[in-house]
Amino acid sequence: MNDSRQGFYERYLRPLLFRMDPEEVHLLAHQMLPALSILKTQTEFWYNDQSTRLSTNIAGRVLRNPVGLAAGFDKNGTLTEYLKLMGFGFAEIGSVTAVSTKGNPKPRVFRLPEDDAVINYMGLNGDGAQRVAERLSAAHASVPLALNIAKTNLPSVVGDRAIEDFVASFRAVKDLPMIYASINVSCPNTHETKLAEVNTIDSVLSEIIKINHKNIPLFVKLSPDSDDVLLNNVAEMASRHGLAGFVCGNTSTSRAGLKTPSDVVSKIGPGGLSGPPIRENALRLCRQMHRMKTADQQIIACGGITGGAEAFEFIAAGASAIEIYTGLVYHGPFLPFTINRELGAILDDKRLSLEDAVGSAATASSSAARIS
Ligand SMILES: Cc1cc2nc3c(=O)[nH]c(=O)nc-3n(C[C@H](O)[C@H](O)[C@H](O)COP(=O)(O)O)c2cc1C
Repeated sequence: MNDSRQGFYERYLRPLLFRMDPEEVHLLAHQMLPALSILKTQTEFWYNDQSTRLSTNIAGRVLRNPVGLAAGFDKNGTLTEYLKLMGFGFAEIGSVTAVSTKGNPKPRVFRLPEDDAVINYMGLNGDGAQRVAERLSAAHASVPLALNIAKTNLPSVVGDRAIEDFVASFRAVKDLPMIYASINVSCPNTHETKLAEVNTIDSVLSEIIKINHKNIPLFVKLSPDSDDVLLNNVAEMASRHGLAGFVCGNTSTSRAGLKTPSDVVSKIGPGGLSGPPIRENALRLCRQMHRMKTADQQIIACGGITGGAEAFEFIAAGASAIEIYTGLVYHGPFLPFTINRELGAILDDKRLSLEDAVGSAATASSSAARIS
């Protein structure tokens, strides 16, 4: 697959789409994606032509390539049939919540074109876990799926009710075939920010594990804003509970280093920042979790990735797979093909398999430190 389609998107489609409200474009994208079915034969050819060089393993499941769709793009599991046509190797559906809610008032998604970034204040809108589970059990998913679950964003769902709510979501989806479930304790757009406290995460996990009879691998999705003390505590708790790993990470509440004028940014108000401005912190989070995790736990990286070189940097920092969302807004639906192609060329150049590349930067820097 060549990149002319990405060039076409950036040059001709993006200027038109950027005249529309971002959420309207998102809905339009959902309506248009089925049209990609005309590329089915071409895509199958591309997949079959790929060597196993790009394949990776998440929680024991082999994936054709390491580029996944991040949570939030397909919250309700309506696109699973078409995601392979975009070049994805897997997708994280959700966040799903126990109760269907409309989320925060609109407008709640804002582009920051000077930064290739987005601020979203969606507030976990969605059809509800039960409805999504029914849809997914009838779907013909084109790529392996993971499920991201979060707490229902209602003012009444706090404290012990928040824990019960998480468990209700997990109960609704736990019999679906999935690579892993990701427990989202890091959404910045909810009524309750205390979820990021380690005791709450611990209680949520303990209760979920009690009903996890199929031993679905569990990941925790962390915030790139987390401090070292929280990360240390989460790492300890994750090893105690036998978690499969960490998604690193979610959107950020930081507004540091933006090129967008500060009056424009402050007019937007609260919300999670995504795209290249959060990349450094997401990378820092990956490096820290790579140092803190147990040998068999894994990292799925997410935050500002838009090309193969960046994907490689996260993989070398310890990630076994990467995910994208905001890059699709700025570079179009075929970005996964570009990332895979560029990543494949880097791996060829370095004569590394993807598996060997995972954590290679961390290994290199610790050997250098031992020598010096
Ligand atoms: C509009 C929007 C909605 C999102 N919704 C969710 C969500 O429901 N659950 C979740 O865990 N992350 C959600 N995210 C965060 C993404 O999954 C991802 O962690 C974050 O955007 C960083 O990746 P990126 O820079 O490639 O976008 C959302 C992001 C955006 C832009």
